[in-house]
Amino acid sequence: MTIDIDNTLLLLGRGSDPASERGVSCPGELPPASDPALVERARAAKQALGDRLFVLGHHYQRDEVIRFADVTGDSFKLAQEAAARPQAPYIVFCGVHFMAESADILTTGDQQVVLPDLAAGCSMADMATYDQVEECWEVLEDAGIAGDVVPVTYMNSSADIKAFVGRHGGTVCTSSNARRALEWAFARGSKVLFMPDQHLGRNTAVLEMGLTLDDCVVYNPNRPDGGLAPDELRDATMILWRGHCSVHGRFSKASVDEVRSRIPDVNVLVHPECRHEVVRAADHVGSTEYIIRMLDQAPAGSAWAVGTELNLVKRLADRHLDKTITYLDKTVCFCSTMNRIDLPHLVWSLESLVKGEVVNQITVDEETAHYARTALDRMLALP
Ligand code: 13P
Ligand code: SF4
Repeated sequence: MTIDIDNTLLLLGRGSDPASERGVSCPGELPPASDPALVERARAAKQALGDRLFVLGHHYQRDEVIRFADVTGDSFKLAQEAAARPQAPYIVFCGVHFMAESADILTTGDQQVVLPDLAAGCSMADMATYDQVEECWEVLEDAGIAGDVVPVTYMNSSADIKAFVGRHGGTVCTSSNARRALEWAFARGSKVLFMPDQHLGRNTAVLEMGLTLDDCVVYNPNRPDGGLAPDELRDATMILWRGHCSVHGRFSKASVDEVRSRIPDVNVLVHPECRHEVVRAADHVGSTEYIIRMLDQAPAGSAWAVGTELNLVKRLADRHLDKTITYLDKTVCFCSTMNRIDLPHLVWSLESLVKGEVVNQITVDEETAHYARTALDRMLALP
């Protein structure tokens, strides 16, 4: 019997689908999670690798992993750090696939980027494929507006989409520079195609740039012509891709109302990947670095409800015992793909490097990397 891989829902860690991170199995012998020596093994492997190794860790990583990061950050800071480390031949990226791809693009040809578990993808990034983006551009051409549109892609997208954007005069952005990226784009065209996170695009355009909800349309890649008539595209200023983060999408206006009724004087602090009505109802909005800064600077005794990934919120609550820090939603939610990177995978990838074996290397082909780098460099150069 043959199995059509495209039509099969693979379980994480079982089988493999070469076209995505879904269901990728680990090619090596993982140490058991119960091994009490894991922490010591990770430490010893790091020590053995010395300056040849640089470990980057995104803020959503588990505690057991983030403690081994040489630098922690949001996706913007990690991209900057990757670009600034030409000396380390091995970069181990504790984060998700699109971040490791960006690190490969921004590092030199002599450096190798490792993602400890290849199943660490991102469901939002998977919501925009290269073919869908090409098709969308044809729809914009048919509507006669492609020449007016500057494409902007969120960092949370595959390298080939970043390359598409680079080839079409656009830029990458992250949650910490989305406004500056949109200002840059609107200085070059009268319309923006924003991919793949409709919420970040809408929140930035409407809450930070003075556009209205009527200036925005949502392009649905799963419907003919994006589900939009040519006139709707011609009238729009922001064309938002229909994508979202499944973690931040869980927070609702009801969670904000509930926490306000439960905790007097609570400050609601959310990530801009949250839905528009949530961001509107919040007191503060910003990237993970911003969230950390706000809580670091908050006065003792203050109360905060935080709408972002749970590993980070828990860590911040543990770090600031003099403040009340709670998760915004009652149902707690980790990013399941960020959580794929655990201590056994980290130890396995580090010990493999000690043996001179580079496992789970992330590589982007030269042509894609060239144009994706164009778009990433534009982002890194934003004022
Ligand atoms: P930042 O790192 O830009 O805050 O984005 C959060 C995120 O969802 C990363 O996947
Ligand atoms: Fe993707 Fe959301 Fe997880 Fe970030 S938090 S990696 S956007 S699924």
